[in-house]
Amino acid sequence: MLPTAELHIHIEGTLEPEMLVELAARNGVGLPTSDLDELRAKYDFTDLQSFLDLYYANLPVLRTDQDFYDLTSAYLARAERAGVRRAEIFFDPQVHLNNDVPLGAVFEGIGGALRDSPISTDLILCFLRDLGPDAAAETLRKAMPYRERFIGVGLDSAEVGHPPAPFAEVYQRAAAEGLHRVAHAGEEGGPDYVRDALDVLGVERIDHGIRAMEDPELVARLRDEQIPLTVCPLSNVALRTVDKLSDHVLPAMLDEGLAVCVNSDDPAYFGGYVDDNFAALRSELGITEEQLATLARNSFDACFVDDERKSAWK
Ligand code: HPA
Ligand code: ZN
Repeated sequence: MLPTAELHIHIEGTLEPEMLVELAARNGVGLPTSDLDELRAKYDFTDLQSFLDLYYANLPVLRTDQDFYDLTSAYLARAERAGVRRAEIFFDPQVHLNNDVPLGAVFEGIGGALRDSPISTDLILCFLRDLGPDAAAETLRKAMPYRERFIGVGLDSAEVGHPPAPFAEVYQRAAAEGLHRVAHAGEEGGPDYVRDALDVLGVERIDHGIRAMEDPELVARLRDEQIPLTVCPLSNVALRTVDKLSDHVLPAMLDEGLAVCVNSDDPAYFGGYVDDNFAALRSELGITEEQLATLARNSFDACFVDDERKSAWK
């Protein structure tokens, strides 16, 4: 098992159909079907939005501290078996607030599971870019009573049509609070989204970033500045950002000397956890043991921890 850090994982995207059905029953929330095969059959996407529609539709089953605890514990147990030593975990507070779940329940539930796990973990609060910058600012304000419970902010949800620049002010406020900054960019959006995330939002890592490969100047910059890119190969295939894994740009990114690492994104929806991503890279892309070691080293180098802790994992 290859020890790795997982830096691009949405906790809500680890909601497996079995737990979806269990939580729906526990909380009396209706589902279109409780048949696991029928639920799995819906996990067939044409693009990012088709996935987001299902992802958001499933999340009202999460209501209490215990629900968030159970979701997070299940991920951490699976991640431990996948070789994950460190996880920097995204969560989407706006979804839960919109479902009338108090932030305290989200932080208590997720936080309790993090405390009970042997994996080194921290949380990154994501803003839903399609809800706009004012809603993001309001969310950060509401999260400030829990400031010590998360280490950074991110930007996710529907990318195209929702570029980074309008979020400049809320990212500035996050930086002033000592929070780390990351953003999804270059998943479906073009190289400009990646450039603006770096220049306008001041992000320290790019989530996905695969479309940066279309712009040689940007590639040179990402290499020179060794900006970490949290790539999610099975996610890209599931959302048809690439036609098949053998077309993925990951080998080219490695050849360019980019600071790429491998992550699972929303493993319940995209066909597997980080070990499944590594296995697919081996079998379908011919990624070598040496390249796998580089990917793992890159993942630890990109963590938001001090060098001493990094070298203990590497
Ligand atoms: N991309 C963008 N937003 C998301 C994703 C994703 O894969 N998962 C959850 N929110
Ligand atoms: Zn993501």
